[in-house]
Amino acid sequence: MARPIILDCDPGHDDAVALLLAAGNPNIELLGVTTIGGNHVLDKVTRNAQVVATIAGITAPIFAGCSRPLIRDVVVADDIHGDSGMDVDFSLPEPTAKVESTHAVDFIIDTVMSRDDVTLVPTGPLTNIALAVRKEPRIVERVREVVLMGGGYHTGNITPVAEFNTWVDPEAAHIVFNESWPITMVGLDLTHQALATPEVEAKISRVGTTPAAFTVALFDEFRNNYRDAQGFDNPPVHDPCAVAYVADPEVLSTRRTPIDVELSGKLTAGMTVADLRAPAPESCRSQVAVDLDYDRFWGLVVDALERIGEP
Ligand code: BDR
Ligand code: CA
Repeated sequence: MARPIILDCDPGHDDAVALLLAAGNPNIELLGVTTIGGNHVLDKVTRNAQVVATIAGITAPIFAGCSRPLIRDVVVADDIHGDSGMDVDFSLPEPTAKVESTHAVDFIIDTVMSRDDVTLVPTGPLTNIALAVRKEPRIVERVREVVLMGGGYHTGNITPVAEFNTWVDPEAAHIVFNESWPITMVGLDLTHQALATPEVEAKISRVGTTPAAFTVALFDEFRNNYRDAQGFDNPPVHDPCAVAYVADPEVLSTRRTPIDVELSGKLTAGMTVADLRAPAPESCRSQVAVDLDYDRFWGLVVDALERIGEP
């Protein structure tokens, strides 16, 4: 049975690939796409979600969410994602996928309250998810699992110790990590293993469709930006790792551990702190992603693109 998910994202090159993987994997039922200001402002990332949906013929409904963090100012990642939030050397269509009038937070609440099997997959700042919890706390016991891309237990990217998504809205992340739902943190320790090499690009190219060519163009741009901004030879494709874990839990290994979020440290705000000193207590419902099965992961991406085909 396919697992129903809501993808809460800020496309974003890697969010775009997460969306393609979610749409093309047979083990996932994409109930809806919700957007959150992050990689760029809300209007831009929402439009980017519409563009990706149009390129790949994705029919899941799209809902716009929060335009700013709970407390802090808007910060975007235009060094990595460009002025549009998804700069790419590819002829993008005018989007035909529309945006629903319901707010993303209400869509999340209504969907989770109407069934008991929804997995939330956030791949941007956690503002929408935190607000949904505060507005309707009963979603916590109804959600099957939260599988998020964010944080890290040994490294940061926007600061030495904080990852972008948790750093943009640490208060929201604090809310999400301190609820009692099962939560899997697919953080930088894992996603820095998901490098899009030229060999990976060649495999995707061979799929021979417009969505595959778009994906290769995304990786080319991402490679240049990651090289200039952070010195990577090949870009780490973070967000699809969270989707891949939902589709195929064998794609990565995990370790159960308590996780909390630093709010006030001058050097550490937005840091996710995993307590790896000892085995986690029985009551612990959080875990971190540790090791990626690289070939299996990229196999999932290629397979999804093959299934999407030429819309
Ligand atoms: C995360 O930040 C964003 O730039 C990416 O889309 C990813 O979700 C990586 O730190
Ligand atoms: Ca993202």
